[in-house]
Formats: sequence, structure tokens, C-alpha cells
Amino acid sequence: MSDFISDFWQFWVIGLTLGGIAFCLLLLLKLSGKKEVGPDGKVGSTGHVWDEDLQELNHPLPRWWLQLFYITIVFALGYLALYPGLGSYAGMLGWTSKGQYQAERDAADAQLKPMFDRYAAMDIPTLAKDAEAHAIGQRLFLNNCAQCHGSDGGGQRGFPNLRDQDWLWGGEPENIELTITNGRQGQMPAWGPVLGEQGVKEAVNYVLSLSGSPHDAALATAGKARFDTICAACHGPEGKGNPAVGAPNLTDHIWLYGGTERDITESVTNGRHGQMPAHLERLGAPRVHLLAGYVYSLGH
Ligand code: HEC
Ligand code: HEC
Repeated sequence: MSDFISDFWQFWVIGLTLGGIAFCLLLLLKLSGKKEVGPDGKVGSTGHVWDEDLQELNHPLPRWWLQLFYITIVFALGYLALYPGLGSYAGMLGWTSKGQYQAERDAADAQLKPMFDRYAAMDIPTLAKDAEAHAIGQRLFLNNCAQCHGSDGGGQRGFPNLRDQDWLWGGEPENIELTITNGRQGQMPAWGPVLGEQGVKEAVNYVLSLSGSPHDAALATAGKARFDTICAACHGPEGKGNPAVGAPNLTDHIWLYGGTERDITESVTNGRHGQMPAHLERLGAPRVHLLAGYVYSLGH
């Protein structure tokens, strides 16, 4: 596949490359000539004289040295024939950096296969107790997950803590592996337009009451009815959450987006959309399995 937007550029590249080589060749041929006789009749003289008798001579370049240059030209032409370098011409060997990367990855995977197979046969709780698997899982985690979940898995605002017992999508081994494999999309709709300012205030105070946080009792009572009709569908009638849709438990003191009245008002008014990216394609099933073991070990 060509990366050029029009054919012009590939001919431009070919022209510059081959033109450059041809220019070097012509220059070499010109410099490879016989000894020259200067205007003063002396062999090898440019005719320039300084300080009465200091002459500038014009000997041809040493032959061994010129030949090195010819070799580089032959090498360049051979290289351009074998490898990509001329526009979108792929080269006779069909080499690509992508192909080489894939081949190296396949070779590494083949080498690691016996180990991966051993771990694939273990269930996740067993994996979590295996020191070597834990070490591999930790390295994978630091490289692929730490930028969002923190290097210790402790999470940050908007990115869940993986060390606690509070799970958005369930903490069973299968849930964790599925989360890493396919990713997750948390969808908390924006309720501001539906509830209006007063309605949001009531709902928020009811949410605050669920975890025993300071709240306005009258507003919370009014909010309960709203919660039961709208929010309970996802967060459950008691607000304890629902791992099937990733709805958080609102009764513990663990908040993904902050537990102040302001944070909760923001969550309810504008909604939240946490995205956990899928990792199967990038990492492959054996590594996902090891990661699931590692994450499971964090919470247990
Ligand atoms: C369609 C399902 C659904 C409904 C209905 C719903 N929520 Fe949510 N809610 C979620 C999900 C999913 C999340 C997590 C969003 C994320 O992971 O980014 C969430 C997050 C929240 C949060 C943030 C929690 C935290 O830990 O920071 C609050 C607060 C909240 N919801 C309150 C409400 C209230 C109040 C209502 C009713 C007015 C409501 N939700 C209705 C699905 C829902
Ligand atoms: C781009 C940021 C990002 C990266 C990278 C990332 N995650 Fe996540 N992850 C999230 C977000 C955001 C959520 C919460 C999704 C939601 O709001 O429902 C999440 C959720 C999770 C959950 C579910 C937590 C729960 O409470 O149910 C697990 C498990 C998890 N991630 C593990 C991993 C692992 C293992 C990796 C590395 C392979 C990883 N994550 C990489 C952003 C990320």
C-alpha cells in the first residue's frame, strides 16, 4: 500500500534518489581522470603558485579511495533493489518494518508459549497466588494500565481503584478478565434536563443520605421518590449499584468522581462516561489472563 496521496510524490522521491546517485557517479567519473598538465606545462599543477615556489598540484584522487565510492554506489543500487526506498516500490525482499515487528513478536510469543500455556491452564485465583505470574502481571500492568489506574492500582478521579473491594463491573475473576478483554463503557445519563435544578438538588441530597453524608433531610425525602422512579433502575432500589451496567454503589463512601455535594451535582446534572479500553487485541489472551490474575491479587 502506498502512503503517498498522489503518484507525483513517489516519482519525486525516485527522481531525487536516483538523480542524487547519478550525480555522485558523474562527479566520480570526472575526478577519476588522468593526470593533468597545468597551464605552466607542469604535470599535476593547477598553475597556482604562492610564495614564489609553493605550487598547488592537481593529482587525481587515489584510486583505492575512489573505488570505495564506487562500492557505495553499487551498494546503494543493490539496497534500493532489495529494500523499500524508491517511492512506493516494495523491494524484492518484500521487507517491511511492520512485518519484522510482527515476526519478532511471533518469535517471542512462540518462545513464551510454554509459559503462557502453563498459566492459561491455571484459574485466576491460583494465578494470583503464583509469585512468578504476579511479577509478570505487575510488569504488564505498569506498562499498560498504570497511566490510568496508578502504578499501585490505587486509581484516581474517574479511574477506579482496583485495590479495594468495591467493583463497578464485578470483582469475580470472570468479571475482571472480561473487563480487561473487551473494555467497559460506563453510561450515566445527564439528568439535569429531565429533573431541572430543584429536582437535581433533591436527588443529590437523597444520594448524600444514602452514604450517611451531611444532607438536607427535607430535600432528601423529596429526592427519594425521584430516585425510586429514575435512578433505581440502574443503581438498585437501595442504591447499592449494579455490576451488570457498571452502576456504582452509592451507599459506601467510595466515589469515582468525588463525593462532595458539588461533585455529585455535576455527576447527576451532566452525566458521566467512564471508558475502560479493550485490551484483547493489543495484548493477546495470555497476557490478559495474567493481568486478570494480577488485578485479582490486588483486591484480595
Ligand atoms: C442508565 C443507568 C443509570 C441511571 C438511570 C442512573 N445512573 Fe447514575 N450512574 C450510572 C453509571 C453506569 C455510573 C458510572 C459512570 C461511569 O462509570 O463513568 C453512574 C454514576 C453515578 C454517580 C457517580 C458516582 C461516583 O462514584 O462518583 C452518581 C452520583 C449517580 N450516578 C447518581 C445517579 C442518580 C441520582 C440517578 C437518578 C437521577 C442516576 N444516577 C441514574 C448509571 C445510571
Ligand atoms: C485509558 C485509561 C485506562 C487504561 C489504559 C486502563 N483502564 Fe481500566 N478502566 C478505566 C476506566 C475509566 C474504568 C472505569 C470504567 C467505568 O467508568 O465504568 C476502568 C475500569 C477497569 C476495571 C473495572 C473496575 C471495577 O471497579 O469494576 C478493571 C478491572 C480495569 N479497569 C483494569 C484495567 C487493566 C488491567 C488495565 C491494563 C491492561 C486497564 N484497566 C487499563 C480506564 C483505563
